[in-house]
Amino acid sequence: MFKVLVSDPLSEFGIQKLLEAEDVQVDRKTGLSEAELIDIIGEYDALLVRSQTKVTAAVIEAGKKLKAIGRAGVGVDNIDLTAATNAGIVVINAPDGNTISTAEHTFAMIMALARRIPPAYKKLVEGEWDRKSFTGVELNKKVLGIIGLGRIGAEVAKRAKAFNMSVIAYDPFLTQERADKLGVKFGTLDDVITQADFITVHTPLTKDTKYLINTKQFEKMKDGVRIINCARGGIISEKALYEAIVSGKVAGAAIDVFEQEPPVDNPLLKLPQVIVTPHLGASTVEAQENVAIDVSEEILHILHDEPFKNA
Ligand code: NAD
Ligand code: MLT
Repeated sequence: MFKVLVSDPLSEFGIQKLLEAEDVQVDRKTGLSEAELIDIIGEYDALLVRSQTKVTAAVIEAGKKLKAIGRAGVGVDNIDLTAATNAGIVVINAPDGNTISTAEHTFAMIMALARRIPPAYKKLVEGEWDRKSFTGVELNKKVLGIIGLGRIGAEVAKRAKAFNMSVIAYDPFLTQERADKLGVKFGTLDDVITQADFITVHTPLTKDTKYLINTKQFEKMKDGVRIINCARGGIISEKALYEAIVSGKVAGAAIDVFEQEPPVDNPLLKLPQVIVTPHLGASTVEAQENVAIDVSEEILHILHDEPFKNA
């Protein structure tokens, strides 16, 4: 029997997929500390996580039988990839299943930011009928700057076109052909930064994208620009964003992901111009089913020495 440890909450559809294989036993143990995980990981052939479990080098070192680590989602930044590669463990993700949900969440954030829905809601439920403080802006004819035109960025671009926004995108791997197909203007990072009314980031967090948006970039932006991050905390410097909002350069920001999650004493959360959600981009019934099924299928392929993808 192969033993699979599921250490973060995972849709039941994924568990069922794993259990369809008669030679697989699934243990669900969530909320483990690193030490607790290290204590038990040696019994398992595969580990399946979402984003809460930090699969550190020490966990990997203790996972003597591990053949595969599956991530039910896109970002694998909670897994020490170097340690896994050195140990000969395959790391796979589920890159497609939550694309639409995250693009839709991004658009919900853009609209909530433009029309100031969260602060208006708060005031009304607190008893105040205030129709003066929440004048918003239209999306119509505004420029949306997209940094990272991959799966999610492209879906955001399509939705923006439906709102009659013009879209300019920067992605070092973007081709003119793909930009044309999406009806998107192909720009440099500087073009996007200087021309956009709304800027949304959709890159992975890597050493190249860490603080890609920093004080220097904020200085070049249009006055009153609005910023959205539903990708990864740290692509935009939170300190620089805070200063740009307080100075009046940035009119508002919508943030789903943080440099530290959950955020602790984060001053951005105190600013009325900022709206936030607790990393909910992929939190839909559909996305969680999709990623759980996709990653479970791949884990089974690896355990059974069958061809697999998304490594
Ligand atoms: P993807 O790999 O399809 O797209 C990422 C794009 O970023 C690629 O086209 C790549 O070329 C581009 N890129 C890489 N480096 C860049 C750079 N320096 N400058 C500009 N572009 C660069 O990934 P995706 O599925 O679209 O996911 C995008 C991000 O969203 C990832 O960080 C992922 O972890 C995150 N995500 C968040 C949630 C959430 O819950 N908020 C859900 C899903 C994905
Ligand atoms: C992802 O990278 O897929 C996201 O952060 C979504 C998640 O795991 O909740």
